[in-house]
Amino acid sequence: MRYYVALILTLLLLSCSNSNKESSSKTVSANPDDILAQKAASQLIANFARNLKGELLSAMKEGGAMKAIEVCQEKAPFIASTHSNKPIWTIRRVSEKNRNPENKATPQEQEIIARFADSKQTKTTFLSEWKNTDSGKVFYYYKPIRIGGLCLQCHGPYKKLEPTVKAVLKDRYPNDKATGYKVGDLRGMFVVKMRWPDAKEFARELIADTVFRQ
Ligand code: HEC
Repeated sequence: MRYYVALILTLLLLSCSNSNKESSSKTVSANPDDILAQKAASQLIANFARNLKGELLSAMKEGGAMKAIEVCQEKAPFIASTHSNKPIWTIRRVSEKNRNPENKATPQEQEIIARFADSKQTKTTFLSEWKNTDSGKVFYYYKPIRIGGLCLQCHGPYKKLEPTVKAVLKDRYPNDKATGYKVGDLRGMFVVKMRWPDAKEFARELIADTVFRQ
């Protein structure tokens, strides 16, 4: 009898220590900073995109694509800067076929865009990574930007653009590479960069703010 009790106890202990091991390894793989940074970056993109699209739509209503191009040129960089706090966190839109020279993807960013463009990866909704730099740890989050119907007026095949739109583009963006797209094409990506832990408090607030607003 005593032998059985000892055996059962040993088995129980073994199973306990096993489950302990499991839970501790789970804690290691689900890094809380990773989750926080990812959620915050995704929210930052949603806020920025909503802001930008709002401006674009109201400008188009007011004065068509021609007016909207002016608004885009003046407002897009400004809106990006209001959602950034250099150098702690920044948000940008980049493309390898850029319109604004400031938005040209770096060679490293082009590699990420190529991963999104890879047909096997079309279901990838984002990519993220941590990099160790001289100034500390930095979190990067990338999200693809695809072309929708609304975008064609200014990014569609060049021949199909309104003559007035062509004229404004030529005047304001002499080196424009951002035409010739069709619906569903990859246009570029959002890039969020966060210095860590400097941006941690902001990340927390951003998420708390979203929960509050919902
Ligand atoms: C009214 C014209 C217009 C429409 C419609 C429009 N864009 Fe643009 N887009 C622009 C202009 C102008 C710029 C350059 C902005 C700047 O100078 O920062 C631009 C820049 C961009 C950029 C930054 C990279 C670059 O090439 O400079 C992306 C990404 C982009 N547009 C995606 C889109 C998507 C996606 C849509 C549809 C949801 C869209 N655009 C609709 C005019 C337009």
